[in-house]
Formats: sequence, structure tokens, C-alpha cells
Amino acid sequence: MNTTWTPESWQKRPAQQQPKYDNPEELADALKSLSQLPPLVTAWEVDRLRGQFAAAAEGNAFVLQGGDCSESFDDCNSGTILRKLKVLIQMSLVLICGSKKRIVRVGRIAGQYAKPRSADLEKRGDLELPSYRGDIVNRSGFTPSDRRPDPQLLLRAYEYSALTINYIRALSEGGFADLHHPENWDLEFVRNTPGSRRYQQLLASLSDSIRFMEAVSAGELAQLTRVDFFTSHEGLLLQFEQALTRLERRGWYNLGTHMAWIGDRTRSIDGAHLEYFRGIRNPIGLKVGNSMTPDELIDVIRILNPENEPGRLTLIHRFGAEKIRTKLPVLAEAVLKSGHNVLWSCDPMHGNGQTARNGIKTRSFDDIMSEIFMAFRIHKDVGSRLSGIHLELTGEDVTECIGGPGNLSESDLTRDYRSQVDPRLNYEQAMEIAFLIAEQMK
Ligand code: PEP
Ligand code: CO
Repeated sequence: MNTTWTPESWQKRPAQQQPKYDNPEELADALKSLSQLPPLVTAWEVDRLRGQFAAAAEGNAFVLQGGDCSESFDDCNSGTILRKLKVLIQMSLVLICGSKKRIVRVGRIAGQYAKPRSADLEKRGDLELPSYRGDIVNRSGFTPSDRRPDPQLLLRAYEYSALTINYIRALSEGGFADLHHPENWDLEFVRNTPGSRRYQQLLASLSDSIRFMEAVSAGELAQLTRVDFFTSHEGLLLQFEQALTRLERRGWYNLGTHMAWIGDRTRSIDGAHLEYFRGIRNPIGLKVGNSMTPDELIDVIRILNPENEPGRLTLIHRFGAEKIRTKLPVLAEAVLKSGHNVLWSCDPMHGNGQTARNGIKTRSFDDIMSEIFMAFRIHKDVGSRLSGIHLELTGEDVTECIGGPGNLSESDLTRDYRSQVDPRLNYEQAMEIAFLIAEQMK
């Protein structure tokens, strides 16, 4: 891959998981409009995140990345965004207290609208239609017009991303995210459980520490009035990503998001996704699943991070609670031996899918926790380091994953299952995971 890179050079390679639009002029118009709209993030922010990832890879910070499997346009409302931000901030506080490290907060948010699917078509009865590929492509209803890939949705996705990021910026800049007012972050419906009592104690000791530090420094600590919060999404739909790729002083940046990752299904070595990603300056993620071999991984790393730049590449492994035992050690050893500087993060969600007896897609809290614990242990044994966690979660009280503090069973799944795609941890399950990881990191 030593040919010249341009934002469109990926178009000469096979691109997996792309929708088939039926009206090329309409698509071209939408992409042209997109390419003229202002960026959603700045190159300075992107560079700052790369620096924070470099610190995490060194062991001086820890990355918490989380959000929906797939955002929906309907969820672009104040309550849902606020609760998602809130659960991630609350989890980060718990992790700070456990790890005594800076936590880098990255949402799967403000652009996580495109989904890879295992089949191009979905059949119900006699009717066969294109699969639902996320709100940026088509609609989840099962009619021919719902499932038609609609170029206008590219523009809607940009707009919803902008509305979301605007609200996140306002919330994280002050007021809501001010550590002097942790009462903004009460646990709502998670009350009177051992987890909520631990959380109240943590907030109380945090407030004491802040009062103490401000007393000795004779003034308000300005850094505590705001939080850093970054956005990310899977860079799946390459025409959309290209339209938001802009030339800045230091090179080409995808300014539709701070971080983007390559999915496990689109990471082929000669494919369009690797070609696109190698040319942008953003910190990038690579999902690493069970089919990855050590040689292939090293080849991919060479393509994506030829200068061995710290903070550039996050390897997000997702093997499943059992397979991680055999898969991760060989890959982690190979990377260590190669001398490549990467950040390792564990996605304990995507290798642990299961189908409940009632046919509903779910994941078990215990499998998720067990993969996380194994990931810490294996990295430590091998001599590398787990520096991040990648979760699918929501700030709502949904019933999509079984187990956890509320001990949800398979029959609870039908009570409030909202995800159109993968099952997410609910608020209480997500908080419990933060506590368990914090204990592990102590
Ligand atoms: C995802 O993160 O939602 C996803 C599809 O992951 P993967 O590429 O690891 O399957
Ligand atoms: Co998912």
C-alpha cells in the first residue's frame, strides 16, 4: 500500500458493507452538500485526543469508550443525550477513584449511525428487502420504501450529529459537568442497592477532597468545572467519511468525529477501509476479532501506523469470554515483540452475543465481566497493558442484557428491549461494571 493517498483513493479498492443507492445523482448531490458543510470537530481537538491516547498507552490514563451499538435519529433528544453523558461521566468518576488515573471519555455518539450486517437482504414471509443498515442508510420498518437506501439520510445524520455534539459541548463545558455539583449526577432509578451506596460514598469523599484542595490552594480549581468529552463512531460508510475529510495545516483529518474505528467485518488488508483510514490524522481504532492472525495484525498495524506514532492506533479486541484465553495471548505477544506502539482496549460485548430461549439477542453480564477480567490478566501476564474498555451501554433502564445487579433473566428481556441492533448494558449494569473494573485497577 505505498501508493499515493487521497481522500478518495479508497474508491479503487473493494469496499465491504456499503449500501447500494439507486439514484447516483441524488447521492452525488447529498455528498456535495455534505462536503461543503462546516466540520463537527476541530483538528486541535483531534490532536488533543491523540495525545491523551498516547498517555493511556503509556499507562498514565485509561480510556472509557461507550454508547449505543447504533444511535437512532429518534434518540436525538435532550433526555437521552443527557443520560448517556451522565452515565459515562459517573462511570469515569468511579474509574478515577479506583485507578487514580485520568480517564479519557469517548462516546460512541454523535455519528454512530451506520451498521455492518451479516446479510445484505432480510426475508420475512415471502418478502425480501435490503437489511436495515442504520438510520444513516435506511429505516428499520419492513416496507420497500423504509428499506431503500436514501441519500437524504446522509444529510439528516450530519444534522443529528451536529445537534448532539452541540448539546454535549454545552453540558460538558460547565454547570452540569461541574465537579463542585455532583448532585447533578444522582443515580436516578438506581437506589438503595449496594452499588448506589458505594456511589454516594464516593461522591461524598470526592466533595471532601475538592473542598480540601481548594482550601489549600485558596480558590476554585477551574479544571474541575468542566470535563473533556470526545466523540467516536465506526467509519463504515466511506462516502460519508470522505465528505467530512478536510485538509488542515497538519494533514487530512476526518472532522466528522474525534475518533473513528474500523469494524471487524471491514478490516481486510487490501480493502477500501484500511486505505481510507491510513491517510487521516485522527486517532483510529481497529476491531480485532477471532479470525485475526498475528501476521495479519502486524501487517495491518504497519499500514495504519507506519511511523509508529503513539496514540495513533487503538486495538479493540473482542473475542468472547472463552476465546480470549487462547486468542489474546498470541496477538499481544506478537505486537509486543514487533515493538509497535498501540493502545489495547477490550470490547467485551461483541464476542459474547447469545440468543435467549425466546429468540431475543442478548449478552450476559457475567460473560462480559469475565472477558474484562481475563483481558486485564492476560495483558499483565504477557507484559503488555490493557488501557481501555469499549462498551455498548445506555443511560436508560432498558432490559437487553441478562444478569448484573438487577439480576435480569431471559423473561425480563421483553419488558423494555429497545435496541434495533445489539443489546446494551442498562444504567445500573454499566455502573456496576465501572465499580468492578475500579476494584480490579486498585
Ligand atoms: C460494533 O462495535 O457495533 C460492531 C459492529 O463491532 P465489530 O466490528 O467488532 O463486530
Ligand atoms: Co454492536
